[in-house]
Amino acid sequence: MADKLIIFDTTLRDGEQSPGASMTKDEKLRIARQLERLKVDVIEAGFAASSNGDFEAVQSIANAIKDSTICSLSRANDRDISRAAEALKSANRARIHTFIATSPLHMEKKLRMTPEQVLEQAKLAVRFARNQVADVEFSAEDGYRSEMDFLCRVVEAVIKEGATTINIPDTVGYAIPELYGNFIKTLRERVPNSDKAVWSVHCHNDLGMAVANSLAGVKIGGARQVECTINGLGERAGNCSLEEIVMAVRTRRDYFGLDVGIDTSQIVPASRMVSQTTGFVVQPNKAVVGANAFAHASGIHQDGVLKARDTYEIMRAEDVGWSANKIVLGKLSGRNAFKQRLQELGIEMDSETEINTAFAKFKELADRKSEIFDEDILALVSDESVTSEKEQYGFVSLAQHSETGERPHAAIVFTVEGKEVHGAADGNGPVDASLKAIESHVKSGAEMVLYSVNAISGSTESQGEVTVRLQHSGRVVNGVGADPDIVVASAKAYLSALNKLHSKADRVAAQG
Ligand code: KIV
Ligand code: ZN
Repeated sequence: MADKLIIFDTTLRDGEQSPGASMTKDEKLRIARQLERLKVDVIEAGFAASSNGDFEAVQSIANAIKDSTICSLSRANDRDISRAAEALKSANRARIHTFIATSPLHMEKKLRMTPEQVLEQAKLAVRFARNQVADVEFSAEDGYRSEMDFLCRVVEAVIKEGATTINIPDTVGYAIPELYGNFIKTLRERVPNSDKAVWSVHCHNDLGMAVANSLAGVKIGGARQVECTINGLGERAGNCSLEEIVMAVRTRRDYFGLDVGIDTSQIVPASRMVSQTTGFVVQPNKAVVGANAFAHASGIHQDGVLKARDTYEIMRAEDVGWSANKIVLGKLSGRNAFKQRLQELGIEMDSETEINTAFAKFKELADRKSEIFDEDILALVSDESVTSEKEQYGFVSLAQHSETGERPHAAIVFTVEGKEVHGAADGNGPVDASLKAIESHVKSGAEMVLYSVNAISGSTESQGEVTVRLQHSGRVVNGVGADPDIVVASAKAYLSALNKLHSKADRVAAQG
């Protein structure tokens, strides 16, 4: 039997640290359920000690998820570790992931600690964590830029204290595949008790090599756990992407000789869910989950694929969860058909009220758009007004006028704490006018740092999905809105971003 590669997903912790990607507890829970369907081995649900919101998110995920191990990050101190243990109390399988930086630069400039102090703190932290749970991961932050002799001493000591997984992050994305692979290999060879723990890799993508480095850590270094995120979401250039790692190991099993327990048919639904929840759009040419990943545009390729698929295809689109754009529901579909499709898509709604709200939105959409695809349903259930009753701002209606040679004008009706208000403004274009119409009333003072539009299912008949990123007082939030009318989608996205700015307490990550 081949060795197993453990897939450790950190979308809800390291991924969430990406500016603007912070999620509410409910959003995190929905993604955790999808990660469970994907059959990831370990879900890093958050950093329990970082905020009350994150504590509650870890706690609710630990309560709800039965099949995956649930993990919380914690710094190497008793308070953080106790908070993590407390949040994980109800988990079927709980892991505490404690970390401290070990590179000269981080120890001296960030921690202002001597190497001996760091060594001592790492040992105490792992000892304390092992008294709470049996499964303890230790990460040497900025491990790849640490001195080999010192790192060997730290790793040997924490394994003696009971660490069951040793993670060597390339925190700043500085590694090169061959060098990183050999770094892990040397560590494993030099640490006398290295066989008592599972070795793990955690790579950032600053030089675009996170996946290559992780694979080298596995192949050359002998690591048996990879830490990764859906769509490669993460700070700066992101983390190692789960879909790429999984499909590389699966597709080239001849080379890696490893098994992964992932249900790959859940990859695309997971990618969509993370993108729609965070507002981080997936680039069309992204491997595995990009819209073009399986599109053969050139005549030569199309001809080859028609004659024999494997001339140009190394993976099958359906194996990673791409369904051919099929019309799944229409105007005449009833509540039961809608409910069943939600179940087939793996979407769990907490209450009948939520299903009723979603169904009403579906009917509204089906009146305006004759063909409803899975993508439309996914966008619809990501709509905050379906999953949350108590948003500060809600969209009601929009009228706008634009004509060549005239300055566009928009008049909008929206709710503030349930009460309807009106706003009107001119703008450079209809979208600009609509958002200024909202601001004429809200006066948020937020700066827009990103605006993007994407066609959900390809054609101009599709819904437009708009992402708006706002910045205010050092906080960054993303809002997402979908509608067949992209001006309306823009207004919805803007209101969604304002809701996120407003609901400070609800956002679980301590960002900015
Ligand atoms: O990149 C990093 O070093 C981390 C650790 C906290 C594991 O995310
Ligand atoms: Zn990281």
